Amino acid sequence: MSSDAIDPGVLRRNAHSPSFFALQRASSGRRDLVDFCIPCNPYFPTPGMFSQLAGAMEQILKYYPSDADTIAGELCDTLGHNPQTVVMGNGSTELITWIDHLLVRESLATPIPTFGRWTDQPLETGKRVDMFQLHEMRGFELDVDAFVHFIRMRGARAAVVCNPNNPDGGYVPRREVVRLLDLLIDLDLVVVDESFLDFVDAEPHTSVADEARIRPNVIVLKSLGKNFGLHGVRFGYMVANPALARTVRAALPKWNLNSFAEVVVFLLREHAAEYRESLRLLARDRLLMSQQLAGLPGLKVFPSQGNFVMVKLPDGKDGVALRDHLMGRHGVFVRECGNKLGSSSQFVRLVVRPEKDVQRLLIGLGSFLYGTASEEPPDNVVSPGHGWGEATAPGGEAGREAGATAANHFAGAPPHREPVPREDFRTAI
Ligand SMILES: Cc1ncc(COP(=O)(O)O)c(C=O)c1O
Repeated sequence: MSSDAIDPGVLRRNAHSPSFFALQRASSGRRDLVDFCIPCNPYFPTPGMFSQLAGAMEQILKYYPSDADTIAGELCDTLGHNPQTVVMGNGSTELITWIDHLLVRESLATPIPTFGRWTDQPLETGKRVDMFQLHEMRGFELDVDAFVHFIRMRGARAAVVCNPNNPDGGYVPRREVVRLLDLLIDLDLVVVDESFLDFVDAEPHTSVADEARIRPNVIVLKSLGKNFGLHGVRFGYMVANPALARTVRAALPKWNLNSFAEVVVFLLREHAAEYRESLRLLARDRLLMSQQLAGLPGLKVFPSQGNFVMVKLPDGKDGVALRDHLMGRHGVFVRECGNKLGSSSQFVRLVVRPEKDVQRLLIGLGSFLYGTASEEPPDNVVSPGHGWGEATAPGGEAGREAGATAANHFAGAPPHREPVPREDFRTAI
């Protein structure tokens, strides 16, 4: 595979990652890029659901959707929310934009590194952004008391935390988030961005949406693109007390959601079991992938509860060079974190993907870090798509052993750890 298979300029154009479409156009039409960059659930929707969506394509494209209240009403029925407290947006980014315009008055504090819109959006509208640096030494863990102290020192009037955080996947236990909300009761606004929360398996009860409903100054935000594996649909929602929800809802156009979003939302109810299964498969893959990455000498792996794992490259190795190497030689797309405030190019975010894709990643990583392995990816690898129903045994020995092969090129077998037992606790989607 030649290194000029992709125009590398497309990777450097702006602060955000290029879209998958832009990459395909820039890669001389190659169709087998494996996307470890965009954090999308690979196990949902199921192939059956994709067929249903394909069957509805003509109507989706020809007809107007219902208004946003109708679609949000169905989402609330499915998820068990009170519709007065919910607002749906065309991607959660639309809601972030309006939350900033309407509710962030002068300043906002957020831990960094984090999702770029939470720093860039308020900066673009002239607000002061107080950035609380998370430290590698502490595994990028958020210390609630230190963050509150920082907010008091800076006099910030609004605060945002992503839980789990992007790019490291760090999770703050629910009781700590509630304590944070209590400590910040006097602020204009506190947002808890729970976009990756469904992937958490550290504890059974994770969301603070029930707190947001009854507090004066709290919004819980959730993208639906990540957990439902449908970034292109552009849908997300927020939960807040009815007055706060009304303020944001009033700013949005009546038809801000498209017909794709409507059809998907009305499909979800029938597919709760498959969704739960997709989360189980993802947690299994996260454990296995983290172990395999930890088996690569010199690579530091941060514990994650998201659908991605952040790694630190050994000193002297640069994430931009790694990204270009993986893209050009292995058809693997990763997120180097150099353009994230509070991070550097030594950090790379890797989306959790099915085992056969991870093999290709590990081979590419190995050839970049140690220059020892074959440059050719295994020929069983394809797809930015899903791996639903694939042969790898869930957490079983067969899966684990197959999974060990690429890592073994470089480091011997990964340490054997028993999978964390996990109850199938989710009752709603
Ligand atoms: C923490 C977090 N919140 C929100 C978003 C925006 O998601 P979307 O606009 O696709 O719903 C992202 C995107 O990566 C994110 O990481």
